[in-house]
Amino acid sequence: MTEQPRSSDRLRNELLETALEAAARAGSFLRDARPEDLGVAATKSSAIDVVTEMDIAAEKLITGLISDRRPDDGLLGEEGASVEGSSGVEWVIDPIDGTVNYLYGLPSWAISIAARQDGETLVGVVHAPMRGEIFRAVLGEGAFVNDRPARVRPASELGLALVSTGFGYLAERKAQQAEVARRLIPEVRDIRRGGSAAIDLCDVAAGRLDAYYERGLNPWDYAAGDLIAREAGAVTGGRPGEPLSPALTVAATPGLFAQLQARLDELGAWHD
Ligand code: IPD
Ligand code: CA
Repeated sequence: MTEQPRSSDRLRNELLETALEAAARAGSFLRDARPEDLGVAATKSSAIDVVTEMDIAAEKLITGLISDRRPDDGLLGEEGASVEGSSGVEWVIDPIDGTVNYLYGLPSWAISIAARQDGETLVGVVHAPMRGEIFRAVLGEGAFVNDRPARVRPASELGLALVSTGFGYLAERKAQQAEVARRLIPEVRDIRRGGSAAIDLCDVAAGRLDAYYERGLNPWDYAAGDLIAREAGAVTGGRPGEPLSPALTVAATPGLFAQLQARLDELGAWHD
């Protein structure tokens, strides 16, 4: 008897279709219904870690659609969605990654939706409406930006690398992150800070960045972008020998990854 695959093509296709539909609907809503006078609805870890009414409404829209299509799946969302589920599939959702950009009317924000089974991400969709781009990946089937295959840049060395990063919402953590960046900047081509971890990971996938790293992300920030980056040929991880995690997320072209990861470890990018 041949061994059954862990997740059938049918399941993966259904998850992808559901993620694409939820991301498209949330994208139109967030783009078209953003109030001119959008304000802060609540704060989380600090006064600058904000939530708008649109984050909350978009998460409801996404989780409502997913529960309608697949009522037995689990849900984990940045704005509080938390459902255990019984199917073995769990959705990891960031209704707006780049909330501060969205609040200020800057274009770099995205909806990030991933579906995972037994801890393995099967499907990832990142939709950046103001860029007119939908990134998607299915495990083992490559990554796409709109309908074009996404591919990382050819090999580069650290000194020539364009590296993106981000900073958290707590002053103490930001001070350490700034210190790591201060020491890294002279060693690379340049640094970018786009304001959406999901888009940063997709920009590594699309060959627009050589690398991205950040400490302190949550699973909803990186779940979809990590799969998209890997399926586009990037290597992702955390500290040397460890998988990517909230402690440290590193994504880079294969030629650069080990060198950058080792340097970030020396610089203490994994601690506050
Ligand atoms: C944030 C963005 C940002 C990163 C922060 C994240 P949010 O997510 O991804 O780029 O630097 O660490 O928290 O709060 O906009 O969903
Ligand atoms: Ca986020």
